[in-house]
Amino acid sequence: MDEPLLEVRDLFTQFQRVDDVVYAVNGMNFSVAPGEVLGIVGESGSGKSVSVLSFLGLLRDNVKLKSGTAKFRGTDLLRLGRRQLEDIRGRDIGVVFQDPMTSLNPVRRVGDQIMEGMITHHYASKKVALQRTIDLLGEVGIPEPQMRYRNYPFEFSGGMRQRVMIAMAIACEPQLLIADEPTTALDVTVQMQILALLQTLREKRNMSIIMITHDFGVATNFCDRIIVMYAGMVMESAPLAEFLNNSVHPYTIGLKSSIIEVGNKNKELVPIPGMAPVLTKPLNHCPYVSRCSVAQDRCEQELPELLHVGNEHYVACHRIEEVGIHAK
Ligand SMILES: Nc1ncnc2c1ncn2[C@@H]1O[C@H](COP(=O)(O)OP(=O)(O)OP(=O)(O)O)[C@@H](O)[C@H]1O
Ligand code: SF4
Ligand SMILES: [Mg+2]
Repeated sequence: MDEPLLEVRDLFTQFQRVDDVVYAVNGMNFSVAPGEVLGIVGESGSGKSVSVLSFLGLLRDNVKLKSGTAKFRGTDLLRLGRRQLEDIRGRDIGVVFQDPMTSLNPVRRVGDQIMEGMITHHYASKKVALQRTIDLLGEVGIPEPQMRYRNYPFEFSGGMRQRVMIAMAIACEPQLLIADEPTTALDVTVQMQILALLQTLREKRNMSIIMITHDFGVATNFCDRIIVMYAGMVMESAPLAEFLNNSVHPYTIGLKSSIIEVGNKNKELVPIPGMAPVLTKPLNHCPYVSRCSVAQDRCEQELPELLHVGNEHYVACHRIEEVGIHAK
């Protein structure tokens, strides 16, 4: 495998609330190779967003603890100051969030907002940045870009605003794009267009992408590797083919059984019983234990480690040996 572009090791993030602490990320480990698309899936509250916001320096100020390393091209992002991180964010790492209206300034023209990043990061002069803004709007599929760059965000549809966000995120040609639920608020056809656009951009620029989504369909159609998160931990991680054919973690299997497949009326849908745990205590046992149909005593006493089971496939479960897979 290529040297990773981003390598996150032992990431822990905790928040202080008025009366308690939230243990949001509990020892995340993952890496992204150049040109690779990594999907992070998991239920709401599993720590998908916090795990990336932690190394982007975008968390709110009630952080109690943030530890571990997040090496981007060898530089640990968790050790950088605000200014240094701002330099990297927007230039080397582009970010697209779910709701463009919270990220776009409603009273500024979209063209000015796209240009701003290029000028701030000394990527281009004002004149070059203007031409590039028009080119980028065309590249992300905005019709008549030479007219539309003067528009305000409210003059664009939701899908077009999402495209503007992508144009902003890729303006300085980042090596890594982080897209946090970039298509969740959009209808299915626009969602497919945006994913196709990201796919094209990735091929054209050999850009790596981290795609955060709770949509299994999006992850399995778009990503090279998939990480399943639960309670701020990686439960399973595997390259796509291995993930589709050989997933073994009880939570992944539960997720797969509970999703609707288009055109498969015969599939029996089995929802996962119970709810995700409230993370107000340090984890000292498997967080999935109260919902797992194959749990044993050990699962209530020890936290499972993420172990390599071959083919770049990792699983955190005490019972992997019993389902016929052996840690390597
Ligand atoms: N600033 C904060 N203060 C306290 N708790 C927080 C804070 N930010 C996030 N959390 C908690 O951390 C946990 C992980 O949140 P996160 O936003 O990463 O979930 P997610 O997997 O991205 O969910 P979703 O799919 O809904 O976006 C949740 O329990 C959330 O309530
Ligand atoms: S460690 Fe135990 S409780 Fe957790 S997923 Fe595996 S079998 Fe289930
Ligand atoms: Mg989120």
